[in-house]
Amino acid sequence: MKILLLGSGGREHTFAYMIAKSALCEKLFIAPGNTGTEKHGENISIAATDFDAIADFVLKNGIEMVVVGPEDPLVKGVYDYFLADEKLKHVAVIGPSKAGAQLEGSKDFAKKFLQHYNIPTAKYATFTSTQIEEAIKYVDDQNVPIVLKADGLAAGKGVVICELKEEAKQELREMLTQQKFGAAGDKVVIEEFLKGIEMSVFILTDGKNYLTLPTAKDYKRIGVGDTGLNTGGMGAISPVPFATDELMKKVDEQITKPTIAGLQQEKIIYKGFIYIGLMIVNGEPYVIEYNCRMGDPETQAVLPRIKSDLVDLFISVHKGNLNEKKLEVLPYAAATVVLASRGYPEKFEKEKLISNLQQTNECLVFHAGTRMRKNGDIETNGGRVLAITSFSRELKDAVAIAIRNAEIIDFEGKYFRGDIGKDVF
Ligand code: AMP
Ligand code: GLY
Repeated sequence: MKILLLGSGGREHTFAYMIAKSALCEKLFIAPGNTGTEKHGENISIAATDFDAIADFVLKNGIEMVVVGPEDPLVKGVYDYFLADEKLKHVAVIGPSKAGAQLEGSKDFAKKFLQHYNIPTAKYATFTSTQIEEAIKYVDDQNVPIVLKADGLAAGKGVVICELKEEAKQELREMLTQQKFGAAGDKVVIEEFLKGIEMSVFILTDGKNYLTLPTAKDYKRIGVGDTGLNTGGMGAISPVPFATDELMKKVDEQITKPTIAGLQQEKIIYKGFIYIGLMIVNGEPYVIEYNCRMGDPETQAVLPRIKSDLVDLFISVHKGNLNEKKLEVLPYAAATVVLASRGYPEKFEKEKLISNLQQTNECLVFHAGTRMRKNGDIETNGGRVLAITSFSRELKDAVAIAIRNAEIIDFEGKYFRGDIGKDVF
């Protein structure tokens, strides 16, 4: 079949790599794609949120499946757009409906859902801009640290952890009354701080049946030892060594099953990925966030470990018979190291020549922020530039191979974290 993939990051390069491998994929297009996706299909210059242009392209090119990478088109309702059109509704859109994407699009919605279905999560309360005084009083009655979350999408920046009550109150004023995060902060979730260790679980669901993909842990802070500013993610490992069978059974019983049951109960159409961000507190899993898509760079570590045909799984997601499928996973651990531009996650450099891309070995190199020059050279064009994934029987060895390759590829101002995975070895 002909497939269209939406998005342009390292995650989408990984999806393109996996989809193009499938015997079921006759032709892959990526909108808009990047320098990396071009090796696996044809990039077309349409934005992932330009639904009219996407629909037009799908009809003209006989596309039968649309795989959605990022959250933006999902939260804006790309699934519903296709479903509402007689000529498009047969297309298999892999991603949740607009209602389902609210699990990520509204923290308040997610918290209400978690609470309603008795899924373990931190205690919380939600306030709007007219309730600033109540919000401040609420903070007074809680312990610190305390977590403030802008309700809407804030490009990964909407979560603030406050060590002091005064800091939390100031932050609340900025979010609720000074629009620090724009409309995303019109509502703020105030949440209990959970102290534990984080990991991520990824679910592929047809809305009724589901498969749990390999676990992963990402490294969000810019600095070694998890210090400094938050980023989109500086690396990932899969599987998570401390995700024992016992813990995963708890996740399945206490979190995944009630999540899927809740979606059904709410009559929410959900045919795609659920990314469940967990905090493990004294061996017990708590949900700290849902995302309605795969993670970046977790995808770069998780998907290449999957032996099953991804397109075949997607067809079952669309048909609703995922219960007939088994997930086959390769017996290797994976480590992903992200190469970033100097300055990231703040203002960063661009247009630096990338050298030694051909000199790497024993790794997959996924492009995120790169661009091809007229002469065919590749230059940097983003904060996160490349993601390098390596595999080995032992996680430690996979990390070492990825780091070795991170040292080989070069560009001015290259930065990467050399401690990916070291906290869990
Ligand atoms: P998010 O943007 O929802 O991924 O949150 C960003 C980060 O904030 C998470 O990866 C956690 O490290 C942290 N975080 C979010 N909620 C909590 C919480 N309730 N307790 C402790 N840390 C949290
Ligand atoms: N790596 C975190 C995310 O994709 O949200």
